[in-house]
Order: sequence, then C-alpha cells, then structure tokens
Amino acid sequence: MAAITIKDMSISYNKGKTFVLDKLNLNINDGEFCVFLGPSGCGKSTAMYSIAGLLEPFQGKIYFGDSLMTEMENGKKKTFVPPQERNIAMVFQEYALYPNMTVRENMGFALKTKKVPKEEIDRLVMEQAEKLELTPLLDRRIAQLSGGQRQRVALGRALVRSPQVFLLDEPLGNLDAKLREQVRYELKKIQKELNITTVYVTHDQTEAMTMADHIVLLNGGHIMQEGTPNDLYDHPSNEFVAGFLGTPQINLFDCQVVKEANGLTLDAGFFKLPVPADMEDCLKSYAGNKVHLGIRPSDMELDPNGAITAKVDSIEPLGDAFLIYVRLGEKVVVFKYAGETAPEDAELHLAPNPAKLHLFDPATEKRINA
Ligand SMILES: Nc1ncnc2c1ncn2[C@@H]1O[C@H](COP(=O)(O)OP(=O)(O)OP(=O)(O)O)[C@@H](O)[C@H]1O
Ligand SMILES: [Mg+2]
Repeated sequence: MAAITIKDMSISYNKGKTFVLDKLNLNINDGEFCVFLGPSGCGKSTAMYSIAGLLEPFQGKIYFGDSLMTEMENGKKKTFVPPQERNIAMVFQEYALYPNMTVRENMGFALKTKKVPKEEIDRLVMEQAEKLELTPLLDRRIAQLSGGQRQRVALGRALVRSPQVFLLDEPLGNLDAKLREQVRYELKKIQKELNITTVYVTHDQTEAMTMADHIVLLNGGHIMQEGTPNDLYDHPSNEFVAGFLGTPQINLFDCQVVKEANGLTLDAGFFKLPVPADMEDCLKSYAGNKVHLGIRPSDMELDPNGAITAKVDSIEPLGDAFLIYVRLGEKVVVFKYAGETAPEDAELHLAPNPAKLHLFDPATEKRINA
C-alpha cells in the first residue's frame, strides 16, 4: 500500500507547446478511494496514465510513499520506474480479457506468469470470485459471458494481484443501471477491505459522490476543487463545482445586493431574500452590485410565506419525491418536493433554506460566503 504524491506535474502531448495538465499538485492518502471527476477531455485519464507510468509528463514528480516513480524536467527523464515495476493494477473500460480462457484462467493469469504456486492461485481466485459473485461462472469461457459479467472478471483479475495502487478508468461504463449500482457497492467494500490506494476515473458525479473518500474535480487541466464529497457538495468553491455536482443542477440567479434600513437584501427581480446575519459581513462590499445566488432543488420548501412565488410548469414523479419545475418569468427553476402527493396548485410559494444559500462573485465565479 502506498500514498501517492504528485508535485508540479505538467503534461503535454506536443513537447511542451500546450499543456493538458498544468502544474498539478495532489496528495492521495494511503488506502484512500480517490476519484478523478470532470467533463470529457478535462485530463482525468491523462493524469491516471501518468501515475501508472504509461505516460511521461513534461515536468514534475510522482511518488508512491517515499519512492520516486517519475521525475521529469523540461521534457527530460530523470527518474522513471516502468509500469510493470510499479505494482499497480489497472482496469479500463475496454478491458482486454482472453476470450477463449475460462474466468478462472483469466483471473489467475497474472499470478501464473509470476510463478505463484497453483494452490495459492486457486485460493486467491476463489476468494475474489466469491466477492464479485463469479463463483458459478469460474469455468465458463469469457466469450460465453455478458458484458457486465466480463466487467466483474476484469475487476477480479486486477484484484487478485494485491497491487499497492489500483487504477480504474470508467470501469462501470458497460454495465446496466442495476448492475452498476451493485458493482459500485461491491467495489467500494472490497477496496475498504483490502485497503488499496485507489484512483478511479469517471465523469459521473453520482459514482464520485457515492464511492469517493476524496474527489478531485478537474476542468480544463486544472483542479477546480478537491475534498470529501460533502465538502464539494455543501461548499462548492466556485460555480463550476456547484453546477457539476447535484442532480438536477443547482438553480442560479442573478441578484442585486441592496442595502436597506434593516440590513442587506438579495433582489433577484422575481423575488427578494433578506441576507442571513452570518452572510452580512462577506456581502457588505457587494452592496449596490450583483452576485450570483445558487439554491439547490432540495434546499427549498413549500411555505405559504415563502419569498418565491412561481407558476408550476411541469411535475416529474421520482417515486419517493417529485421534481417540480416552476417558472419565474422566462426562467425555469427546479424544486425537489418530498411529499406523498404532488401539490395541485398552479402557483407555489417556496422558501429557500437560508443556511443553504451559495453566493458567487459574477466576475470570478468564486464562492463568496463561508
Ligand atoms: N494521445 C494524445 N495526443 C494528443 N492529445 C491527446 C492525447 N490523449 C488525450 N489528448 C487530449 O488531452 C486532453 C485530455 O484528455 P484525457 O483523455 O485525459 O481526458 P478525459 O478527462 O479522460 O476525458 P474522457 O472523459 O472523454 O475520457 C483532451 O483534450 C484530449 O483531446
Ligand atoms: Mg478518459
């Protein structure tokens, strides 16, 4: 097991002319489940390949524990441990299994090439197969398995090797929703049991929220924010993070900060909200100017005295709740209602939770309130 440290790493696919990752600094703790999250093309896979040693950065260092794995200076290699000596296991979306071998043979293959005794291979394979519900399939050939079953074999094959670092790039992409949830749960459990430092790449925020100890949210080759899922969800440090996490997306309003006799008010045009006392200080300098106000769909409730009055546009039942889309002029706002039945009124009064308001600077898009 090992912590992973990345220092000032820049990666370029054109010899330093442009950078896909720019001066990345990151500490992943020993045994942590770390998720690289972000939109397509933000550099998630690139960052992971550099940890694996499949890609040489242009600049920077990578350590596993205290051991230097990669050291690059201006495109020149100073230290570079080859991938096969890094004791890593990888699973990709396009996993390469041997179609004519059985599940058992595929899972044991790497151990066999390492000359591990047969009984030991059998034991390790059986143990992982049990955890991944592959026991009844052990003697089937890969060609006779479904996509989801193959995916689990790929995970099992990686895990039997007890790697010090486990790297997964969108490994659940081929699974249907139910299996995805099951494998997600199993994977997290196995990772905790084995306590393997894991880097998991995905663009799916639900996967990141449910599995990660540590989320690294990337955009355009830069870290937008890192921390626990709750850090990012409850205290997004900018509008990008606020919008990326949470379904449906956070509602954003343009507001004027108005100074009134009894304190500050946020005026969004269609509604006005008094600024909660604990936000007064950080908003003082914005009096007379604009801010962006973010309110998550689940942070509003029906209240006859609610500050927001809006016409119901459409209602989507979720089973345990309703998504209610309401209209404020041209703007559509979404509100998550946890009641038993959908409200029947054509017009609703909504009260945002004052403790859950997110305020951003319109110019920098950075968070204003604590
Ligand atoms: N071999 C390559 N040569 C040139 N550019 C590349 C190469 N591989 C990736 N890129 C570029 O680097 C950027 C980051 O790519 P990367 O594959 O890391 O993105 P990603 O976050 O994994 O995206 P996705 O979610 O689509 O897999 C993209 O702009 C991509 O086009
Ligand atoms: Mg990728």
